[in-house]
Amino acid sequence: MRKIVIAGNWKMYKTQAEAMEFLQGLMPHLNEMADDREVVLCVPFTALVSLSQSLHGSLIRLGAQNVHWETSGAYTGEIAAPMLTELGVRYVIVGHSERRQYFGETDATVNLRLHAAQAAGLTPILCVGETKQQRDSGETESVILSQLEGALSAIDQTNLVIAYEPIWAIGTGETCQSSEANRVIGLIRAQLTNPDVPIQYGGSVKPDNIDEIIQQPEIDGALVGGASLQPDSFARIVNFVA
Ligand code: G3P
Repeated sequence: MRKIVIAGNWKMYKTQAEAMEFLQGLMPHLNEMADDREVVLCVPFTALVSLSQSLHGSLIRLGAQNVHWETSGAYTGEIAAPMLTELGVRYVIVGHSERRQYFGETDATVNLRLHAAQAAGLTPILCVGETKQQRDSGETESVILSQLEGALSAIDQTNLVIAYEPIWAIGTGETCQSSEANRVIGLIRAQLTNPDVPIQYGGSVKPDNIDEIIQQPEIDGALVGGASLQPDSFARIVNFVA
């Protein structure tokens, strides 16, 4: 039985004060939350401390958006896995397309980060996905398979979540058709040694399309950007109707 994981990725949004305001807005919805799904908020590093205190004892898990591969060292501006686990962080996004595009992330560094996250007991959410150009030239499968091969080398697949995020669907309002996302996620699953790894869809997930997405047999949840920033829309997504 695969776990359903709904994760919000706040990206570089929300000060600490705004994060607390979000939580206030989410509180009334917490009682409605079913406990058969894992709900995660991947927030900026600066919001982790106060959220970890406020979420303590709730069903919501805390996640970060990146982690360095060393446990400490002279790496100005980086955050190590033990610094996250100390705060009660359980998940970390690794290899998001924005990190690949703007910060030089490669499959090799993604692989190092996955190892470091798992070694510290964090569950990495590995992101893969193709650009519009790659899709249009029929390269979707080969791109994703090569991302998986590079990222998953010698990685334990028992403590792992994968997110399929077609880059052209991120922040564009252009959702990948759910049947197509289901097909690609099926291809991803066929590459794994552990068929129980939860595989999410990400890219313009909203309250009005989550139900259709989650009803697809291969899709085990969602990685939600913009719609995770508002408590009402995030709560509706978390309370999807399967
Ligand atoms: O990681 C989530 C993401 O990239 C999707 O963003 O705003 O299209 O839901 P959004």
